[in-house]
Amino acid sequence: MKVLVFGSNGQLGREITRQFQSKYELVLQNIPSLDITNYQSVADLISYTSPAVVINAAAYTNVEKAEDDEESVFKVNALGAHNLALACRKFQTKLVHISTDYVFDGTTNVEYEEFDPHNPLSVYGKSKLWGEKLVEQVGGEYFILRTSWLYGDGQNFVRTMLKLAEQRDHLTVVADQYGTPTYTKDLVWVIERLMQTEFYGLYHASNQGSTTWCDFARKIFVLAGKSVQVEPVSTAEYPQKAKRPPNSVMDNKMLRLRGLDVMRTWEEALQDYIENECR
Ligand SMILES: NC(=O)c1ccc[n+]([C@@H]2O[C@H](COP(=O)([O-])OP(=O)(O)OC[C@H]3O[C@@H](n4cnc5c(N)ncnc54)[C@H](OP(=O)(O)O)[C@@H]3O)[C@@H](O)[C@H]2O)c1
Repeated sequence: MKVLVFGSNGQLGREITRQFQSKYELVLQNIPSLDITNYQSVADLISYTSPAVVINAAAYTNVEKAEDDEESVFKVNALGAHNLALACRKFQTKLVHISTDYVFDGTTNVEYEEFDPHNPLSVYGKSKLWGEKLVEQVGGEYFILRTSWLYGDGQNFVRTMLKLAEQRDHLTVVADQYGTPTYTKDLVWVIERLMQTEFYGLYHASNQGSTTWCDFARKIFVLAGKSVQVEPVSTAEYPQKAKRPPNSVMDNKMLRLRGLDVMRTWEEALQDYIENECR
């Protein structure tokens, strides 16, 4: 099976490459990512290479910077997604598109299901929601997977904490935002299973369970054997430009109903990551 990955140099893209390169024919994996904002280039590439599946792991992901860069963010996260959906429909190719928990405002304290109302608080969240809607509008054979607090081969919260542990023995971390850390390795397991099916639609795809950034940091230090004191702070005490949802925990309801939820608990996944990728 031929698979074409956009954003193959990002942390999710690298994990897809790692897991898929011995099983599938990865198209043009060694050239730099093609710009998804250019419809003609995207369409030409899909037409020329005829993949069975296109995976969109490309995105503008800097949530803070996005607040001051709205045009560029929408160009990548909304228009880029639209371009891939249009080209995939034209050439009857399956599309796997990745979205985010930041489409929710987090004002409820229950786990979000796929069709709960969304109300993004940040430019990044809005642009990702537009991306979802444009993919849905185009139709075709698409899967949209919303994931959360992603880490893998790249810059992420786990690596930032481990780096800080080398310089400090005391940290303050936000303790009133709830979500679910998700390992790219586990997300790719889900992508692989889903892309073999015809169960098109919207899915939540995070590791199981939930935590706060503060308890996530504490768990990272325990698993990595670092003695760092982590003090909780509130979001109000740690002001950031982009508003984050206080609760963005998602229920993988559609994956579960389909019998396709292979996600481990976030603690098991984190242990695997720290033991195998951070030593
Ligand atoms: N990271 C998280 O915590 C998180 C949470 C929830 C959902 N997600 C979603 O998960 C997906 C993967 O995220 P990630 O963490 O792997 O992101 P990432 O590491 O930032 O990688 C994104 C990739 O997209 C590429 N890219 C940016 N603009 C592009 C364009 N115009 N055309 C082609 N490629 C472009 C980037 O290339 P350059 O490096 O060259 O710019 C980069 O390689 C994204 O859809 C993201 O929104 C992420």
